[in-house]
Amino acid sequence: VAPRISISPLNPHTPLDYDSRIAQLERVRAGSHRPLSLTEKILYSHLFDGTESRWTLDEIRRGETLLHLRPDRVACHDATATMALLQFISAGLPKVAIPTTVHSDHLIVSRDGAEEDLKRGLVEHEEVYKFLSSAAKKYGIGWWKPGAGIIHITIFENYAFPGGLIIGTDSHTPNAGGLGMLGIGVGGSDAVDAMAGMPWEVMCPKVVGVRLTGKLSGWASTKDIICKLAGITTVSGGKGKVFEFFGPGTESLSATSMATVCNMSAEIGSTSCLFPYTDAMARYLSATKRPGIAQLANQYQNVLLRPDEGAEHHYDDVIEIDLDTLEPHINGPFTPDLSHPLSQLKDAVRQSDWPAEVSHAMVGSCTNSSYEDLYKTQQLVLQAKAAGIERVKTPFLVAPGSEDIRATAEVDGILQSLRDAGAVVLSATCGPCVGQWDRTDVDVKKRERNTVVSSFNRNFVGRHDGNPGTCSFVTSPEMVTAFAYAGRIDFNPTTDSLPAPSPNQEFRFTAPLSVELPTRFQTGRPLYQPPEENSTHLQVEIDPSSDRLQLLTPFKEWQPGATDNMPILVKVKGKCTTDHISPAGPWYKYRGHLENISNNMLLAASNAFLPAIPEMLGHTIHPLDGNVSLIHEVARDLQRRGTPWCIIGDWNYGEGSSREHAALEPRYLGGLTVIARSFARIHETNLKKQGMLPLTFVDPEMYDRILEGDRITLKGAEEAQLQPGLSLVMQVHTKDGTTWECEVKHTYSKGQLHWLRAGSALNYLRDNQ
Ligand code: F3S
Repeated sequence: VAPRISISPLNPHTPLDYDSRIAQLERVRAGSHRPLSLTEKILYSHLFDGTESRWTLDEIRRGETLLHLRPDRVACHDATATMALLQFISAGLPKVAIPTTVHSDHLIVSRDGAEEDLKRGLVEHEEVYKFLSSAAKKYGIGWWKPGAGIIHITIFENYAFPGGLIIGTDSHTPNAGGLGMLGIGVGGSDAVDAMAGMPWEVMCPKVVGVRLTGKLSGWASTKDIICKLAGITTVSGGKGKVFEFFGPGTESLSATSMATVCNMSAEIGSTSCLFPYTDAMARYLSATKRPGIAQLANQYQNVLLRPDEGAEHHYDDVIEIDLDTLEPHINGPFTPDLSHPLSQLKDAVRQSDWPAEVSHAMVGSCTNSSYEDLYKTQQLVLQAKAAGIERVKTPFLVAPGSEDIRATAEVDGILQSLRDAGAVVLSATCGPCVGQWDRTDVDVKKRERNTVVSSFNRNFVGRHDGNPGTCSFVTSPEMVTAFAYAGRIDFNPTTDSLPAPSPNQEFRFTAPLSVELPTRFQTGRPLYQPPEENSTHLQVEIDPSSDRLQLLTPFKEWQPGATDNMPILVKVKGKCTTDHISPAGPWYKYRGHLENISNNMLLAASNAFLPAIPEMLGHTIHPLDGNVSLIHEVARDLQRRGTPWCIIGDWNYGEGSSREHAALEPRYLGGLTVIARSFARIHETNLKKQGMLPLTFVDPEMYDRILEGDRITLKGAEEAQLQPGLSLVMQVHTKDGTTWECEVKHTYSKGQLHWLRAGSALNYLRDNQ
């Protein structure tokens, strides 16, 4: 009898049952011989046990069918977990129904270095950590303490497994695809559904095959695959799609480097990204104390963990990338799809007048903080040192992805080499990647222009330091390190030299050596609190006077007639990510307090009714008295007066993270609907979950006709009239007394309409337990 293997050594009672998955898949195939992609295999083998699990291949339409799934696990980080747990508490359930973890990586502010930053953070966020720890214990959740690791790295090292399905309250959850697990970023209320044992809904994605040929060499890395892909697809080109890699090029990549690609696929707005099972995954699983999973995966790889032969002919689209000719890429500033091959960067910097001098170079984040990444960084440091260049030219921050990576890199001498070269080693947390950076080298308040380069994934305006003057570029760790030595972003390490100390000497880097795994992974300090078995007696305490945590009050159900004659709170113009709707940085501390965090609503958004100048960001014209004020202040005033309002959005409204606060805040402050040219997938679902009505213009040009002072009435938004697939009529009452109409549509399924009617998905869950 084969030994029982569990999905993770940390979930010893949850078996890894590939046989049941295969049986489920066979039911869905129902005798069909159509080859399946790996994405489909994973999705269809996780259909929720209900009527939908009786679906057959012929009935499922990619891009059209709403699937009900049961994920293998749920993960939340500390900035989203507070609200997710508060919602779980409101649902009144005794324990989570599937393995769930919380990771404390977002709250720690980077400033002095790992030890000092963690010490300070533990004091500063004590109340939140106590809440997370006690709620985790009570509800059977594993809690990773501050410094244990960045959520996706901890998942990769402990929980990801080939053929699995994970949802996480963070948009970079696709990172698990580096181990052949389908990872999908969701909002907190989606996570709560799965934690409660309810089906988790997702539109069956389209599948784009990305065929890799050739082999990486020189300075090219997997970061360049995704940076190049972002340039091809743009930030919204992946919406509703999973990017599934295949082809001979996949065989030569390490597991962590494949994770880099999957991780940053969030930047093209995709549902997820995935690699087929490879030997490298088996090696990684064995190196991270999971040889049993590797063995099992080897047995099941062809039937379950790789696409069927011929599946490439059934992808919705295919993109080809030749690794032999792939150049290093540097993407930015301000958007991750502004992609520059290294050979063209110098010209782009000059033509666009971006500051060439680098103010900070940073290696880390969930995208590029593996042992392999740190090793490559060290290789360049050692090369420079051998040439007599002792230190980097620019401030250099390095964050290992987890405590185990830190411990291993410490034992192997990597971190000391980096410190010797002038690097500051940060804790295994998100830090500057998510704006948790106490930056003092430039005047952030004066919006001082400067350039930072990092191995992170995201570079929206103000993302790292809140400074709209910071030009942020993302690239591979080796390129970041080369820039750190040159001190300039227009440096090309493949053609340019640096002055070396000996007279008339010049030094040129060679591409760094790489290793996929350390000789031995060390186990770092114990920073994991396992779920408590017997927890009925435990209490989760929240101080009613806390300004950081607040129990939730249910939203009111949908009010008939509420969408008549609504004033427009703001007409958002241009890019409006969840960072614009609910900024991070100093606001993190209020993530568990809806009243307080709502004071950041749309603070970074640009309003089409006001001049496009930085001072007007986050402002609007009060629709009742004409005064210009902060958007959230106007929203509160309208709410006080009992006047529901709406938002007009531009393209891809709500792109970026899975931050549900971006949906909770407008709902909390009295908003009813957001009418946009288009929505980012996660945000649209988040709005639905919170009982807001997201609508899109059937003709996107109607957006341009909306003027300041217009009022909106929605015809067809009443309970009986709102049906899946039926559009609504939007009447626009202008200031001069005329009315014009256009068509707007929604994407509600029958089941989702219950959420709207009940006031929120959570209300519906609680009322229907
Ligand atoms: Fe953290 Fe940045 Fe990743 S915020 S989870 S390191 S994208």
